[in-house]
Amino acid sequence: MRNKPLIVAVALVALLSVLAFAAGWMFGGLKRPAPVQASAATSTPVDARAIFIPGGSEIDALRRGVPVNQEGHPPPMARVQNTDIRRVRNYPMQPPTIPHTIDGYQVDKNSNRCMLCHARANAATFQAPPVSVTHYMDRDDQFLATVSPRRYFCSQCHVVQTDAPTLVANGFKDIDTVLAAEPPPGGQ
Ligand code: HEC
Ligand code: HEC
Repeated sequence: MRNKPLIVAVALVALLSVLAFAAGWMFGGLKRPAPVQASAATSTPVDARAIFIPGGSEIDALRRGVPVNQEGHPPPMARVQNTDIRRVRNYPMQPPTIPHTIDGYQVDKNSNRCMLCHARANAATFQAPPVSVTHYMDRDDQFLATVSPRRYFCSQCHVVQTDAPTLVANGFKDIDTVLAAEPPPGGQ
């Protein structure tokens, strides 16, 4: 029995750990702080949906008026609109939003479901608008035969249209609105 001291040491360590565990089990619970329960009682969730005011003058609109020391109900998940109705682009180079659902459309190294319909060659079959020529250009403005790697992952730029309310007030005016506005007095 060359390993006798080793076996004795292992047995001792095991015994000690069992003892330490039992001690923790018995005495650890005693010092549990009571305030945990008290704070749970005070933080009843506030319904963030009820007090959301679009364009309101809240300091932090993303919290939708819920005080910082309270927890708000999460707003309901937005529904994707599958209406085929295209939204106007706010400026010419905005990636258009997607007017259809894209659930389950796989885009990975091996296949790109979007290009099944949006490639130039397939566009007529599916009556989809083909991706514009910019999607075939590399960063040196050279035209490639297939979609450029930097335009391959479509949802990097294009998002589906949802019925989500505006999160924060936004004063953006597009160029047509700016041009149509009256010139300021003073002839500037
Ligand atoms: C089954 C065919 C099909 C697939 C797959 C498909 N689309 Fe479409 N897409 C269409 C059609 C058709 C339209 C034209 C509007 C409509 O009828 O919904 C369209 C419209 C669009 C538009 C609006 C273009 C514009 O000028 O406003 C975008 C952006 C778009 N799709 C992106 C995508 C992306 C990104 C994917 C992949 C996640 C995808 N599509 C997958 C058929 C498809
Ligand atoms: C790096 C951002 C980016 C990526 C990635 C991207 N797009 Fe676009 N896409 C745009 C922009 C910006 C426009 C509008 C200006 C233009 O045509 O280049 C656009 C326009 C479009 C249009 C409208 C074309 C037209 O002539 O009206 C379609 C359809 C479209 N993209 C589909 C796709 C599909 C499908 C993919 C994936 C294969 C994709 N896009 C990837 C930025 C992107």
